[in-house]
Amino acid sequence: MNRDVSTSLDMTGEETPPLEKLRGDALAQITGAADERALEEVRVRFLGRSGSVSEWGEKMKSLPKAEKPIVGKLLNEVRRAITEALDARTQEFRTNQESAALESIDISLPGTPHERGTLHPLTQILDRAIGIFRRMGFALAEGPDVETEWHCFDALNTAPDHPARNEQDTFFLPDGRVLRTHTSTVQIRTMESAPPPIRVIAPGAAFRRDEVDATHSAQFHQIEGLYVDEGVSVADLKGTLEFFLRELFGADSQVRFRPHYFPFTEPSFEIDVKSKALKGGEKWLEVCGCGMVHPAVFEEVNKVRKDQAYDPEKWSGFAFGLGMDRLAMILFGVPDLRLFAGNDLRFLKQFA
Ligand code: DAH
Repeated sequence: MNRDVSTSLDMTGEETPPLEKLRGDALAQITGAADERALEEVRVRFLGRSGSVSEWGEKMKSLPKAEKPIVGKLLNEVRRAITEALDARTQEFRTNQESAALESIDISLPGTPHERGTLHPLTQILDRAIGIFRRMGFALAEGPDVETEWHCFDALNTAPDHPARNEQDTFFLPDGRVLRTHTSTVQIRTMESAPPPIRVIAPGAAFRRDEVDATHSAQFHQIEGLYVDEGVSVADLKGTLEFFLRELFGADSQVRFRPHYFPFTEPSFEIDVKSKALKGGEKWLEVCGCGMVHPAVFEEVNKVRKDQAYDPEKWSGFAFGLGMDRLAMILFGVPDLRLFAGNDLRFLKQFA
């Protein structure tokens, strides 16, 4: 028995072509298929449940026993050849599709530009200010925006009837806490948690119940400073803040200390700056409140610490508070505070 015999085996006459012819037909149709859909039709025609190859499988059952293995082997070969040809042709279609898709891309076109973001002007000036203080050895401290009335006022020697405590000026929460009206609260938080010496700055937000206009906002930003050590004097306060302001506004700027009143410092000052560099021109601009820490503040801290760590006979210190939004306005010549929070890219891009 040889292969020719088996391939021409035809039990039922015309309907089922011999296996060799079947393979030839299938391969020719696979090569001739124009697309994946045509190819699928070919697959169904030959390998589908009632396809020619499957019919041969049925037919096998009625073959004489001796012929079964020979025909079976050939049938497997034919099935494998058709399957492989189908796979190869499918792959060919896919590759062609991909390269057609790639051809439609013009790689010489310029790419989509990605715009670079910039730091917000307030962040820029905050970073500069923090950098100057850090060079003088100040560490960063922080405290919560939502504060107790005690941290915001009592501990800072502010009388119960002080106008700042008025509900017209301060945001009170239903539970009696407040949105801190200044960052001076961080002075208290720092001294509560650590004994002297202290040298910290605390940048952060503060809130007041102001009517919003070109120079007032309900939320603004301050940098608080606190320096406590043995023998700290007004000379240290002046030297530190003059150096800071000259670094920020230029070496030729003039700095002036005016006597003022704050409950938590004695003596207290306001600082004005005049500089050619400033867009405000040749006039004095108020930039900072400061003073020597009031002994009553130290005593109040000692009370909650339950010790005498801040003995006013031994330790002295200075404190200051800088309004950053105001500084940014005069440094950059911004006429309206509301621009800082307006999220207008035309404005923000000018500080790139
Ligand atoms: N807390 C004051 C304010 O918001 C600013 C200030 C003044 C802070 C004097 C200080 C200081 O630390 O010593 O107006």
